[in-house]
Amino acid sequence: MHSDIDLVLTTTRSVRKRMDLDRPVDRDVVEECLDLALQAPSGANRQDWAFVAVDDPAVKAGVSAVYRAAFVDHYGTRSRPSAAGERLPKGVWESAHQLADTMHRVPVLMIPVRHSVPPQERAGQASWWASILPAAWSFMLAARSRGLVTSYTARGCDREQELAEVLGLEYPGTTQAGIIAVGHPDHQVFRAARRRPLAEVLRWNREDCDG
Ligand SMILES: Cc1cc2nc3c(=O)[nH]c(=O)nc-3n(C[C@H](O)[C@H](O)[C@H](O)COP(=O)(O)O)c2cc1C
Repeated sequence: MHSDIDLVLTTTRSVRKRMDLDRPVDRDVVEECLDLALQAPSGANRQDWAFVAVDDPAVKAGVSAVYRAAFVDHYGTRSRPSAAGERLPKGVWESAHQLADTMHRVPVLMIPVRHSVPPQERAGQASWWASILPAAWSFMLAARSRGLVTSYTARGCDREQELAEVLGLEYPGTTQAGIIAVGHPDHQVFRAARRRPLAEVLRWNREDCDG
């Protein structure tokens, strides 16, 4: 490990089962993490972003009910998984269900939002999404560096209009980029994940392209 930054980069995992649902998260820390995340780049430095932090139990209940419905629509229930549910690795299936069952108890839910809509064409998609998701990831890294844990979810966006109503967001003029669960861990052991190896995913230039 070269630095503390490398440690944070390699150990920011989706923590769903090991989140302490009874320990609140200070708003000050959330704001500090977000302040750092606002350093993330956006196309043309537009920053047409907003971040809705939810710690009110009633709003959380609303968000998590919508999330759970979207999650079950897509993956099915524990006893009746959908085809997509069958394809999830077992560990992810278990912990994703755990989060869907307990999201209303997660101390803080952070919803990154853009005040615009993604283009329909393929051209422009990268620019559009890369103007919000780096900030979301920076927020998660900053949280990790402060001893918090997070879990990014996108499934709730399948029911974006319902979420917009719960959150008091304009729809369809704004676009949500996920729901990030934020809490303290119930343990302090963080490991690097097993990922596809570098050699499998990296190609220099046109190596192996020309037969
Ligand atoms: C685009 C995207 C969408 C995701 N959506 C969900 C989701 O809806 N629910 C969930 O529990 N986890 C979700 N995850 C978390 C992934 O399951 C998780 O990142 C992956 O299994 C790797 O695990 P790790 O983050 O612990 O390394 C999502 C992650 C990404 C990047």
